[in-house]
Amino acid sequence: MPSKPRHLISMLELSNDELHSLVSRTLHFKAQFKSGKPAPESVSKALAGQTVSLVFNKRSTRTRISSEGAAVYFGGHPMFLGRDDIQLGVNESMYDTARVISSMTSCIFARVGPHSDIQELCQHSSVPIINSLCDTYHPLQAITDIASIKEAFGKTQGLKVAWIGDANNVINDLAIAGLRSGIDVAVCTPKGIKLDAHIVSGAAEVSKQTGAVLTLHHDPLEAVKNADILVTDTWVSMGQEEEAKQKLKQFSGFQISQKMATDGGANPGWKFMHCLPRHQEEVHDNVFYDESRSIVFAEAENRLYAAMAAIEGFVVNKGDLLK
Ligand code: CP
Ligand code: NVA
Repeated sequence: MPSKPRHLISMLELSNDELHSLVSRTLHFKAQFKSGKPAPESVSKALAGQTVSLVFNKRSTRTRISSEGAAVYFGGHPMFLGRDDIQLGVNESMYDTARVISSMTSCIFARVGPHSDIQELCQHSSVPIINSLCDTYHPLQAITDIASIKEAFGKTQGLKVAWIGDANNVINDLAIAGLRSGIDVAVCTPKGIKLDAHIVSGAAEVSKQTGAVLTLHHDPLEAVKNADILVTDTWVSMGQEEEAKQKLKQFSGFQISQKMATDGGANPGWKFMHCLPRHQEEVHDNVFYDESRSIVFAEAENRLYAAMAAIEGFVVNKGDLLK
């Protein structure tokens, strides 16, 4: 019986050193790719003759492009399987789908709705599942975001991230990844929206190891005090479209702006991040398009290199992330 593969599920399953290694490899792949030199054959032929499948039942720009690009970089053939392309959910169960796709491909990048779908895929797949967004986690984004912070500040230790937004997939993984990297994380949500208890308790465990702390707020001005990085995400996540009207009302006063940063006392060199796609209500144009503040486009590009680090760690090196 072959051993079970290791999957990329969330930041909770990684050690601090493993996250650190994925972040370093992300920046390594960026330098290698940007050098214009061909990748060494140990990379460019690592997945030659193999297929990398992308089972996506939600739309995507960055995750799709970065996973396909990373697959090609390793010599693999990316195969995009959207919700209208395969039998899953209409004629076929998750169990049957996991067994069949994993029997023919080297790994599965999976973008799904509920986290239970990721768990089911992981249980039955014979190849690594790379969680490419579910309602609870977005690990590829978190790896990217820590790499982007390191790139912008030259360090992570001792910084502070202020999250002004919703409490689901992106911040769940960013909070844990930030704490693992020595970054204090202030999470500000509207009243009535709370960070999940399992993230708060996971954060407490990581804090004991790194000394970085998570704080919870409902007042954005309080959260941005002494922050180095202001971050947000959409207020209406995919699948929540029916709640849009109510959520936009709930988030009134949460738009990130120069004024919010100044009034709240963010550190003078603060930067802005957003996983994208972005809507204007979440962040004022005077921040989003201010190249001296906003690192959103470098952050988006870094998704490619994080996908490379994930393929190397979970597929080529079979989950030995410290190799
Ligand atoms: N940030 C992110 O995951 O973007 P996509 O939804 O476009 O993949
Ligand atoms: N929270 C967002 C992230 C998109 C990348 C969503 O789930 O739609």
